[in-house]
Amino acid sequence: MPSGVQIPPPPFFLEKVLITGVAGFIGSAIARRFLEEGFEVIGIDNFDPYYPKEYKEIRLKPLMEYAKFKFFNIDFTSDKLERAFKEGISGVLHIGAKAGVRASIEYPEKYFHVNVYGTLNILKCMLRFGVKKILMASTSSIYAGHKPPFVESMKTDTPISPYAVSKKTAENLIYVYHHLYGIEAYILRYFTVYGPYGRPDMSIFKLFYSAFSGEEFPLYGDGNQRRSFTYVNDVVEGTFRAYKNIKGYEIINIGNDKDESLKGIINEVENLVGNKVNVHNYNFHKADLAETKADITKAKRILNWKPKTSIKQGLERTYLWFNEYWKDIRRIFPKMPEI
Ligand SMILES: NC(=O)c1ccc[n+]([C@@H]2O[C@H](COP(=O)([O-])OP(=O)(O)OC[C@H]3O[C@@H](n4cnc5c(N)ncnc54)[C@H](O)[C@@H]3O)[C@@H](O)[C@H]2O)c1
Repeated sequence: MPSGVQIPPPPFFLEKVLITGVAGFIGSAIARRFLEEGFEVIGIDNFDPYYPKEYKEIRLKPLMEYAKFKFFNIDFTSDKLERAFKEGISGVLHIGAKAGVRASIEYPEKYFHVNVYGTLNILKCMLRFGVKKILMASTSSIYAGHKPPFVESMKTDTPISPYAVSKKTAENLIYVYHHLYGIEAYILRYFTVYGPYGRPDMSIFKLFYSAFSGEEFPLYGDGNQRRSFTYVNDVVEGTFRAYKNIKGYEIINIGNDKDESLKGIINEVENLVGNKVNVHNYNFHKADLAETKADITKAKRILNWKPKTSIKQGLERTYLWFNEYWKDIRRIFPKMPEI
């Protein structure tokens, strides 16, 4: 070796992670971040029919470009889950779920099967394959009955939807596996996530859809409900930091510490698009929370994380994405999604 030539440091060890729900809104964004950081990602999704497969395939397409990404069409409630574990993963980001508060009232059994039994199936596989680390996406819906801001230490005994119960039960199951078998686990409670490729059953997607198409936007209540709208990139950053930090068992809020009224969001969307939102009023839904707002003291302390994107910036970026993809969106959703 000639003198003066620098020997490069050995490549530092990067893990192979399993991401469930990888074709979903948040799962696909998280997968992208892990791939950009050099991780190997085994992604699974079963294209749950809650909303169109074609939309999920659009999210998957850019992930397929990465040599370190492998996708399996696997239902995590099934025995086929073992196939993904056989890839030799060292940790799980369990992001997949049946999401959606109102649909859970109609199909509570399905929500329990996927969100509770599915989580148990993953935990059992972790034991069989000696995988010790899991991060699970949970939800602010669990805080029903409390006055915001919501703190992780609050009792969560008054859920108001089967979805919230299914997530709370999954959190508890993971705690059991932590206690009995030493599984290390972080539970992240996400707060109303929005942004490009957003979920079509959520208010911000529907507001833009209405402003672009003129179709009716279903408003439940008077618009004074308040939410900790959290931009997807901020959620991804919090999730990435959390995964790298997993130690013991912790529940951590990943949400905005500033809340907004839905009325205010409607105005912002109208200003950005330059069209009115065609609001159609319905009664406030009993399974919805009137207000959500995250206390993020714990995320700041443990992860040194706080959201960076203002609602103005986040809505602008979502608008630009809608504008660029409007033709595709309209083709996949010829009418306002009825979910
Ligand atoms: N979007 C939000 O505002 C929000 C808020 C709080 C919590 N969360 C949680 O974050 C996670 C991701 O939510 P999202 O908004 O990306 O939802 P999403 O519906 O877009 O993504 C979930 C993905 O999981 C997949 N999936 C469902 N059942 C499956 C199964 N049995 N096997 C394999 N894959 C399956 C679906 O096909 C879907 O692609 C969920 O756990 C959700 O409960 C989301």
